[in-house]
Formats: sequence, C-alpha cells, structure tokens
Amino acid sequence: MSAISDGQMVLTFDNTLEVKEAPPTVYPEIVFDFDKIFSEPLTEENMRNNNSLAILGESLSVLKKMKDNSVQLIFADAPYNIGKDFGNNSDKWESVQAYIEWCKTWIDECMRVLSDTGSMYFMTATQHMPYLDVYVSEKYNVLCRIIWTYDSSGVQSKRIFGSLYEPILMINKNKKASYVFNYDDILVEAKTGATRKLIDYRKKIPQQYSTKKIPGNVWDFSRVRFKMDEYENHPTQKPEALLERIVKTSSNPGDVILDPFSGSFTTSAVASRLRRVSIGIDLNEEYYEIGLRRTGIATERNGKNLEKIKVRKTNAKSKYVRGE
Ligand SMILES: C[S@@+](CC[C@H](N)C(=O)[O-])C[C@H]1O[C@@H](n2cnc3c(N)ncnc32)[C@H](O)[C@@H]1O
Repeated sequence: MSAISDGQMVLTFDNTLEVKEAPPTVYPEIVFDFDKIFSEPLTEENMRNNNSLAILGESLSVLKKMKDNSVQLIFADAPYNIGKDFGNNSDKWESVQAYIEWCKTWIDECMRVLSDTGSMYFMTATQHMPYLDVYVSEKYNVLCRIIWTYDSSGVQSKRIFGSLYEPILMINKNKKASYVFNYDDILVEAKTGATRKLIDYRKKIPQQYSTKKIPGNVWDFSRVRFKMDEYENHPTQKPEALLERIVKTSSNPGDVILDPFSGSFTTSAVASRLRRVSIGIDLNEEYYEIGLRRTGIATERNGKNLEKIKVRKTNAKSKYVRGE
C-alpha cells in the first residue's frame, strides 16, 4: 500500500520503493465550435463530430467563407495537372500557365485563413513546383523544401530515370513570424555515429553520438499499398506516416488543421488520432464518404453503409506512365 507519492516514486509500508510510470498526459475532451471560423454559413453538404468537419464541395468557394487567421496548419495536396482520374473531376488544365494561375488563387486564399503563427505545406508535381516556389518565395516565406521519396517496383521508364520523389513546400506568412516546430516529437533513429559507436569530439566534453536525430528534408516513406491497412480507394492517397510527421511538427493538440483537397481524408484521420481538430474538403462524393468513415463522423450516409471495401487502383496511372 502506498504511503508517500511524488508522482514517480512510491514509498510502501514495507519500506521498499516502487518506481511508477509517469501518468499519461490527459488532454481535455476536444469539442470544437466549427461555426466560429466561418464568416457565412456553409451551403455545401457537410457533417461533423466534436473535432472533425468534412465538407463535400469546391475548396475555393469554401475557403472564401472562412475567416482570416483561423487555422494553425494547412496541408494542401491539390491535383497535379497530370491527368489522374479523380472520378467526377479532371486533373487536366488547358495549359501549365492556367494550372499555375489556379494554384496561386488557392494558395493565396489558404494563406489568408492561415494563422499568423501557422504553417502551410503544399504539394504539386515536380515539373510545376518551381513556378510556385518562385511565387511563394516572393510573397510569403519558404521555411523548408522537402522531398518525399519512395521506392517503386511498378512500371518503370526505360528512357529516363524514374521519378521517385514528390516535392513538398513548407511555408509561413513572413520571415519574422514565429511558428510551431515540435522537433522533439519527430525524432528518428540516427544511422551514423551512434551505431558505429563513434565519439563526437566536437562537444566540449567528448561523448558518444546521440542515437536520435531531427529528420532532414528528405523523407523516405513507402507509398500506400493495397495490402496495407490504411489503403483506401483513392488514386493518390498519401501515407499516414507522412501526415503524422507534418501534424506532429507543426501543430499542437487542439489546433485546427485544414486540408482543402482531402482526397481520402488522410490528414483528417491522422489529425483526429493525434487529438487535433480537422477540416477536410473534397469535391468527390465517394471521397467525402471515405472521410466520414475515417474521421468517425458517420458510418452511413443516405442509407449507404460506408464500410471499407478495397478495390485495386487499376486506373490510377499518370499520362507519363500511360505513354500519352
Ligand atoms: C491529390 S488528391 C488528394 C489526396 C489526399 N492527400 C489523400 O491522402 O488521399 C486531390 C484531391 O482534390 C480533389 N479536388 C480537385 N479539385 C478540387 C476542388 N476544386 N475542390 C475540392 N477538391 C478538389 C480531388 O477530388 C482529389 O481527391
């Protein structure tokens, strides 16, 4: 039986010391009032629970209804203009110029709704990112240029080196703005130094290399495969591990995270698991329904059971692989 407790150590009546694990951090139940960040009511279909809001709609028109400085983190994985099949909407613009102009409009709207201390990560195809990099470098502040790399044993080009990475730009409003960077929450195993039992002589008192380090800007995460539990019926689903790193780094529990091109709602699913508040938007009804299930908002919609039935991504190749 315990007599004295200081949280970690307990002195028992038979005078032995029990070391107790620190109690887990208990966060208060999140109940977020989504209406407070909209300046006008949503006309789009939407469903919500205490910490997730899923919207079936066009992202620019939804963004326009959101107040300035209302979200802490944005992850935007827009269509890449490479001809992917997203069901009822096309991933093809008249010209690269038209695509870039469209991207600039949603980037500006996102930066308006982003909090002054927030960060936005966005993705596009490797060939389009340079145009957007120049645009945001001049207007906002680029914090980091990240490469998401992966291996692939699928169809490979025999004429050029295969494209095995996608760029991610991490930006904030301006150079002087402070931003969240929870590096302690994303430490990875250090591959050199510690494993080779080297001594770090750069320290005042030489000591062994640390076994953990803050990841660099090249992120190696496997793409989502059919056999993985997290697989959803979406052609460009991003891995949960990728979103987990972004959410942990750039937000705290209770913060609001927005994904204006949610697809299979990976961002919202990860945000809920990590006790953040999420807003997800997608045009496609089937993807919206995936979102309702993945966030735990609903298990059925209009009498349809939203249970997961996996279908292989047979029609998901870009025009480069299809050779068009
Ligand atoms: C690259 S995917 C996003 C994939 C997502 N990150 C995931 O992990 O599943 C882009 C998504 O944007 C949606 N979309 C395209 N144009 C849109 C628009 N104007 N408004 C809202 N969603 C749009 C498509 O339906 C598609 O699901």
